Amino acid sequence: MRLPSHKLLLAAGVVGVVLAVGLVAAIADNTGLALVCVLLIQSAALLAVVDTRRRQGGLADKVTNHAAALKRVDRTIANVSQRVVTEARASEKALRTEFAGNRADLRDRLGRTRKGIERTLDLRVQDIEAMIQLSDRFELRAAMPPSGRWALNAGGLLKLVDLVERHPIRTIVELGSGTSTLWLSYALERRGTGGRIISLDHDQHFAGITRAELVAHGFAEGPAEVRDAPLVEGVIDGHDTPWYDPASFQDVEGIDLLIVDGPPMASGGLARYPALPMLLSRLAPGAIVVVDDAPRPDEQEMMRRWLADVPGLGRVDQTERQVFLALGE
Ligand SMILES: C[S@@+](CC[C@H](N)C(=O)[O-])C[C@H]1O[C@@H](n2cnc3c(N)ncnc32)[C@H](O)[C@@H]1O
Repeated sequence: MRLPSHKLLLAAGVVGVVLAVGLVAAIADNTGLALVCVLLIQSAALLAVVDTRRRQGGLADKVTNHAAALKRVDRTIANVSQRVVTEARASEKALRTEFAGNRADLRDRLGRTRKGIERTLDLRVQDIEAMIQLSDRFELRAAMPPSGRWALNAGGLLKLVDLVERHPIRTIVELGSGTSTLWLSYALERRGTGGRIISLDHDQHFAGITRAELVAHGFAEGPAEVRDAPLVEGVIDGHDTPWYDPASFQDVEGIDLLIVDGPPMASGGLARYPALPMLLSRLAPGAIVVVDDAPRPDEQEMMRRWLADVPGLGRVDQTERQVFLALGE
């Protein structure tokens, strides 16, 4: 139970005193004083009622304000919750879409990688089979340098060796010396009807290595001759990439087989393009032109230009890495 405040006690005391004074005045027949006391008590009662109402009114306002504030808080919470839910749904949807896309992309990439690996394995197996056939065909007199990578692959070498053994090819010009120079030497030797190989190399160091290999295999006296042919500018008007010095082949005529396997791509754009413009007049009728690294974009563009510019030139065969072109007879 709440104790009355000091102000209440004081008011009660004052009212009590006024009441007592009024009673005494009434007993003493002092009507005027009694009346004043009654009026004072009535006024005090009226003030008390007004004050209580005012206090009640303030409380009601506070309650109303609190209720309104609570409603506002409620509404804010509801809005925030709604926004959180909406954003969470949107994020979830975006994540699902992205995840589905990534999964499809990953599946696609894995599929392509698997196909690439299978294709590479197939080619390696083909090259191993070709190398077995090549090795079976000849009595090799020393270890052979590797095939593939910088050199022609075994499948391409087998095709070339077959070509040389089955056709009356006498003059072979090879742009870029190496392993192929040795296998072609064995092919001419086994065929036994003569013929020669002129192999141009822009790199003196590797030209020297090929010459040493030829000696090690017993080909010191031919049929292959490796010539140093530095790359020089301006062999063809409008073609900026350097190519083999024309002085290195000025004595060569009647080429039956031209193998385009140099200069290296690093020497510039369309590095091998000059081969046909520069040697066309030296090719024999029906000559075969073998393009190594044929799938590369530069080699594709090179062949497109040659086929467009040289009448009678056509595609006759191809492997995974080489294209065989032939001149009309
Ligand atoms: C594409 S390779 C030509 C290789 C050659 N036609 C063959 O199939 O073996 C181009 C250049 O590789 C360089 N080369 C030759 N023998 C090499 C060797 N043992 N290692 C690295 N490069 C070599 C030569 O300078 C050659 O001109």
